[in-house]
Amino acid sequence: RKNLTIGLFGFGCVGYGLYEVLHKTPGLQTTIKKICVKNPEKQRPISAGNFTFDKNAILSDPEINVVVELIDDADAAFEIVSEAMKKGKAIVSANKKMIAEHFQELLELQQEFGVPLLYEAACCASIPIIRNLEEYYDTDLLQSFEGIVNGSTNYILSKTFAEGLSYRSALEQAQENGYVETDPTLDIQGTDAKYKLLLLLVHAFGQIVKPEQIFNFGIDRISDLDLKFAKENGYKIKMVAQAFKNEDQTVSCFVLPKFVKPGDKLFGVDDVFNGLITQNNFSDTQFFVGKGAGAFPTASAVLSDLSALTYDYKYEYKKLNQNKRLPLNNEFKMEV
Ligand code: HSE
Repeated sequence: RKNLTIGLFGFGCVGYGLYEVLHKTPGLQTTIKKICVKNPEKQRPISAGNFTFDKNAILSDPEINVVVELIDDADAAFEIVSEAMKKGKAIVSANKKMIAEHFQELLELQQEFGVPLLYEAACCASIPIIRNLEEYYDTDLLQSFEGIVNGSTNYILSKTFAEGLSYRSALEQAQENGYVETDPTLDIQGTDAKYKLLLLLVHAFGQIVKPEQIFNFGIDRISDLDLKFAKENGYKIKMVAQAFKNEDQTVSCFVLPKFVKPGDKLFGVDDVFNGLITQNNFSDTQFFVGKGAGAFPTASAVLSDLSALTYDYKYEYKKLNQNKRLPLNNEFKMEV
C-alpha cells in the first residue's frame, strides 16, 4: 500500500471529523502534514502548529501527495483542486457543489495530469454509492434510481412531521448537528440534492449535465395543503432525487418532494438517513441506506477514498469511456 502524506484544506465539521476518524483507524499509512484554514482568530481543538493560512504551504510541498479538500467555498475549492492536480497531487473532495459545477473541467484535468479525484463523501455521505455505481453497475444493468440524498431536509421533515417540532427548531437542531450547508437554501431548495443527482448521473448513466439542466423543487415548496393531505392519508413527504431511462434510451431526472406511503422503501428512511433505490435489469431492486450528513458519516466516506488511494484506485468512468452515454431528456412539462 502506498503511503499518503495529506494536505488538508478546511477544518470545519467534516475536517475535524476526518482528523478524529484517522486517529482512530490503525493500519492506514497516512499522515496529515498540514491543515490550511482561513480564519486565524478561530479557536481550534488541536494545536496551532498543525495549521497554515497559506495554501502554497500545501500546494508547493513536494512531499504532500494527496490534497483533501473539505472547504465550503466552491470557487476557492475549484482553484485549490485544479492547482493541486496540475502539481500531480491526488484529490479527495466532499464538495458536491464544486464538482457538480465544474465536472467537465475536472474530468479533463484528471485525464491530462493522470491524477485521481475521488468524491465518495460528496454524495449520500456514508453510503458508498459512487463506487457501487462505478464498479457494480459497469454493465448496463441499471434502469433507474430514486432516493433521498439530502440528510438535513430529511431530518427537518422527520422532526416537523412525525414529532411535531416547529420548522425553525428542526432547522436549528439540524444546524447544531452539522447537517446543514452554510447557506441553508442549498438544502431547503433542493439544490444540494441536485448536485448529488448530477454526480449519480455520471456514474449511473455516463451523463454529464449542468446543474441548470436539472429541475429541482425543494421542501420550501411543500404547502399546508400537502401536509394536511399527507397526514389524512398516513403518508409522509420526502424530497426525492430521481433518474430513469426512457424507452428511447434517453434519461430524465429531477429533484422533487413526493408523498410516500407506508410500505414504500423510503417511508422508513427518517432522520438524517439517506436511502437510494436502484432498479436493475437482472438483479431487480436494490436499496442502500445510511447516514447522509454529519461529521463522522461524511468523514468515513473521505476515509474510504483515502484507503482506496493507497491502492492507487481511480474512477475509470466506464460509461463515459465505452460510449454508453445516454442523452438527457429533461424537456417534460410539469404542472405546478
Ligand atoms: N447539507 C448536506 C445534507 C450535507 O444535508 O445532506 C451532506 O452532504
